Amino acid sequence: MERLQKVIANLGYCSRRKAEELISTGKVSVNGKIVTELGTKVKTSDTIEVDGNILDNNKNYEYYILNKPRGVITTTHDEHDRKTVVDLIDTNTRIYPVGRLDYDTTGLLLLTNDGVLANKLMHPSSKIDKTYIAKIEGMISPISIKKLRSGVVIDSYKTRPARVKVKSVNKKTNKSIVEITISEGKNHQVKKMFEAVGHHVEKLKREKYAIFDIRDLKVGDYRKLTFKEVSILYSLFK
Ligand code: URA
Repeated sequence: MERLQKVIANLGYCSRRKAEELISTGKVSVNGKIVTELGTKVKTSDTIEVDGNILDNNKNYEYYILNKPRGVITTTHDEHDRKTVVDLIDTNTRIYPVGRLDYDTTGLLLLTNDGVLANKLMHPSSKIDKTYIAKIEGMISPISIKKLRSGVVIDSYKTRPARVKVKSVNKKTNKSIVEITISEGKNHQVKKMFEAVGHHVEKLKREKYAIFDIRDLKVGDYRKLTFKEVSILYSLFK
């Protein structure tokens, strides 16, 4: 038996907080009866309906790793009909992205319908490493690198320590290529971190995500995760 809000969140429908809101406002029913009590416990055999949608409690999970191209939005559907990352994957299952990459960012993105794993990976405490290659305007200085490594303030938040390596600095074009590894995922974090030390990011690519490396995949390509890879991802949280 599990708490209703946890089950709804784990099935990937929404966050736990949003599930609590839906329950409190009478949008959730269990076996046909509306439930507004937040502590209600449910079993796997119970039928849960949220806002008219019956949640599938016995799913077959699917897991994909995609090399996201530029100009694709990280969401399940877009009101302006722009192409989404989900459109790139050939499946009839309702998968969704784990975390987000900006419209103009390329690189590794995990998609699944496994809400338990997705929530674990996205939780702020998960500390999953993400490595980006940033092409930035200007020539980055050792002081800026030091600041990025120890943490900069973005939106009143001090970023956690990051690993930073300068790949190249081009005096002629006045651009630098910098590799940065962060273990958190605030909105537009990498771009804001570079802005905080005075550099605009022109291009951003996520080359590594947890145990995955972009070397495997061309832009726009994707593949299913192996059973072993899924087990390794779960083992990160033991
Ligand atoms: N940081 C950003 O600024 N953008 C991304 O897409 C990912 C990380």
